[in-house]
Amino acid sequence: MNHALEIKNLSKSFYKKQASKGFFRSNLVEHCAVDNVSIVVPERKIVGLVGESGSGKSTVGLMSMRLLEPSGGNIILNGTDITKLSPEELKPHRAQMQIIFQDSYSSLNPMMTLWEIVAEPFVIHKMHDAKQRRVKAKELLDIVGLGSVFANRYPHELSGGQRQRVSIARALALKPKVLIADEPTSALDVSVKAQVINLLHDLQSEMGLSILFISHELSVVRSLADQIVVMHRGRIVEQAQTEQIFQNAQHPYTQSLLDSIPVLNPHLRRRRSFQSAEELTAKKPRLPKDSFINPENPNLAQVSDNHFVDAEPLEGRSL
Ligand SMILES: Nc1ncnc2c1ncn2[C@@H]1O[C@H](COP(=O)(O)OP(=O)(O)OP(=O)(O)O)[C@@H](O)[C@H]1O
Ligand SMILES: [Mg+2]
Repeated sequence: MNHALEIKNLSKSFYKKQASKGFFRSNLVEHCAVDNVSIVVPERKIVGLVGESGSGKSTVGLMSMRLLEPSGGNIILNGTDITKLSPEELKPHRAQMQIIFQDSYSSLNPMMTLWEIVAEPFVIHKMHDAKQRRVKAKELLDIVGLGSVFANRYPHELSGGQRQRVSIARALALKPKVLIADEPTSALDVSVKAQVINLLHDLQSEMGLSILFISHELSVVRSLADQIVVMHRGRIVEQAQTEQIFQNAQHPYTQSLLDSIPVLNPHLRRRRSFQSAEELTAKKPRLPKDSFINPENPNLAQVSDNHFVDAEPLEGRSL
């Protein structure tokens, strides 16, 4: 199976100022936001990237798009290593991957009509004449379920879900192969959230997209993702096919995420473990006897086909 996006051993350190004892003196302290993360997004598949706030998910997404420079590692897009390409060399590859964010309001120019917003990528990439741009923008508004009647409206006239549809339409304008969706539904009400998830699902199969879907909620990615990668404090703690994560999670952190999903039917409720943070971090991941260390990714032990778990306890890791 070909890989649409592959990130290999990606790391990112930020340097934060920390005041030290003397007057006006400060030390730069290294903070490793992403630590040796490798993820493959196969062609026409959806990979969910989950983890609590601050675990490094957006940093991975931004680096994958080369919107943030990695401290180490490689980004391979459709077989081309784009890690070190200059802005000019990167331009044709940029069109192949797009990102959508949670906060669509701030990413939509309030002075532009919706068709102008959706057609903006054509202007940037010098594609089509003015008339064609307008026609194609209207088609895109149709595809995301808004209809061309919205073409001359402005972002402030829309609901949150409608604005997110405009962001998706704009992201699809250049027919990308890879879409990075960073919490695209987190700001939306439950029913609207489900509609946007369904839209992404339909577009994925119709347009053959490969999607890295970032969310802090496991329940959101369940219906959408083929595989799930769980991050904790900058590292991958578990990755597997979606149902493996839900039926057979091995890592205590993944189990705590599963425990935190509200279940309405009491008969289906998991026995909750109510672990404290200390208990959770001291617990060693439970690994089957026949698990082995994967030579391609020595951080992770392989417990079965396509199921990997970080074998180290979380204890002692700094945030
Ligand atoms: N530009 C930056 N400068 C300094 N530190 C940063 C920067 N961007 C992110 N960080 C830090 O890196 C860590 C990971 O942040 P990131 O935004 O990737 O987390 P996240 O998993 O996306 O969280 P959330 O679910 O809240 O969006 C955090 O500790 C954050 O404070
Ligand atoms: Mg984030």
